[in-house]
Amino acid sequence: MTRWWHDEAIYQIYPRSFQDSDGDGVGDLEGIRRRLPHIAELGVGAIWLSPIFLSPMRDYGYDIADYRAIDPLFGDMEDFDRLLEETHAQGLKLLLDFVPNHTSDEHEWFKESAKSRENPRRDWYIWKDPAPDGGPPNNWQSNFGGSAWEWDEATGQYYYHAFLKSQPDLNWRNPAVRSAMLDHLRFWLDKGVDGFRVDVIWHLIKDAQFRDNPPNPDWHPGRPDIDRYLQTHSADQPEVHGVIAEMRAVIDAYPGRLLIGEIYLPIERLVTYYGEAGEGVHLPFNFQLLSAAWEPQHLAALIDEYEEAVPGHGWPNWVLSNHDQPRIAARVGEAQAKVAAMLLLTLRGTPTLYYGDEIGIGQVEIPADRIHDPWAKQEPDTSFNRDKARTPMQWSEAEHAGFSTQEPWLPLTDDRAGRNVAALARDNSSILCLYRALLGLRRQEEALRTGSYRLLCADESVLAYERCTAESRIGVVLNMTDRPAEIVLPDRFGGAEVLFGILPGADRPSGDGRLSVRPGDGIILRGKAGEGS
Ligand code: GLC
Ligand code: MG
Repeated sequence: MTRWWHDEAIYQIYPRSFQDSDGDGVGDLEGIRRRLPHIAELGVGAIWLSPIFLSPMRDYGYDIADYRAIDPLFGDMEDFDRLLEETHAQGLKLLLDFVPNHTSDEHEWFKESAKSRENPRRDWYIWKDPAPDGGPPNNWQSNFGGSAWEWDEATGQYYYHAFLKSQPDLNWRNPAVRSAMLDHLRFWLDKGVDGFRVDVIWHLIKDAQFRDNPPNPDWHPGRPDIDRYLQTHSADQPEVHGVIAEMRAVIDAYPGRLLIGEIYLPIERLVTYYGEAGEGVHLPFNFQLLSAAWEPQHLAALIDEYEEAVPGHGWPNWVLSNHDQPRIAARVGEAQAKVAAMLLLTLRGTPTLYYGDEIGIGQVEIPADRIHDPWAKQEPDTSFNRDKARTPMQWSEAEHAGFSTQEPWLPLTDDRAGRNVAALARDNSSILCLYRALLGLRRQEEALRTGSYRLLCADESVLAYERCTAESRIGVVLNMTDRPAEIVLPDRFGGAEVLFGILPGADRPSGDGRLSVRPGDGIILRGKAGEGS
């Protein structure tokens, strides 16, 4: 059985922001194709593209009007076929984003569904009569603010939308919806794509009785509307696992394909999405690092909790940033972004990198008149503005950082003169060179890919752990502060060889395992294999 993702890292591309090839200030498929050498040189094994399908772009592609057509902004099917072919020729896999929870309101299905209560597609979406007082059927909130129910005057019912009102939720309890949507998966699998990241997969099935959600005792004004209530009945329903098993069966009919689920839930709920062996997603995205306090003891506990929770037939994974969350360098600063890179690439499980993190894109201010994110527009005071994590990739010192010949759709960073691939590739101490080196080391060292994980120590400053196979033992020591630190490692690391350091010239541990770690350094050691484990 091919399980290539046990060995490889995944690289997420937000297509609007990778490379523009036609001078409209927006990235496109041909742009991605031209930049494949960067991705291959980085050393990842797969690319995941955020949605590229026909869309009115109210939620920037997460509102799909045709699951089998490429949006003209990104190119056409010929561009896609060429990109897929060249991605494979470079030895890389290509994953697409599947958005099954909702369509655009411009999708043909919804247009039909909205025509009348008798329309054959009526039950493809979620329509309900008003509550006795004429208001929405229940208290469910939209993830982007306000009620999740939109009144339709023409047919006298509300429809449900977990996100924008232009993103009506599909009714996954309807077998016709299931089979039509699974056919879309087959369409792309037949073309040869290597798998999917499935958008908000834990949302697909809602409570059959549409009961009110209970209030969230921790909500206070200033927090997003979605947090007013616990999502007890609107998401994470037991029947969703049956739907996922059907998706998995479709995927498994093609060799070597990967199914990833986007799931924001606490660890104990998250791991249920591995399902029974062969029935869940291969990788329920593990987002714990996206919001975890940057504190060694806290991280150590979280890693242990996750390691224990992943079922025997499951394979772990880690994510540092994505298109919905603050960038890692914006959260922890550039020095710690390097430490974070080492953490991501040395933990057990498939790492997912987010484009632009390899050049350390950090804080970017988005002027009010350039805000695109529909969530930020709807809830300006409460939410992080997702545009900040979606700014264009910076390639060179050229105008517009080599991203486009025109002003890009979102601003570049102020420090783009130095923060670009060309400049950072010339500097051995750069974050880009660090990513390349770490991905290279991961390729070389079986223990970093498939070895077991064990915590060595966690104090106020340092997190240290080991990764072991029967033949090899690798230690990773991370100073997560701007203060020098000193630790004592177990005997098996006494005098250990330094395989790699973030800062040049790290000392080896002494014979009795003492090791000084400079602020922001991360050190990878070769311990004595076999003993003490
Ligand atoms: C997912 C996507 C996000 C999108 C939402 C609605 O969370 O990652 O970008 O807005 O789903 O599709
Ligand atoms: Mg373009």
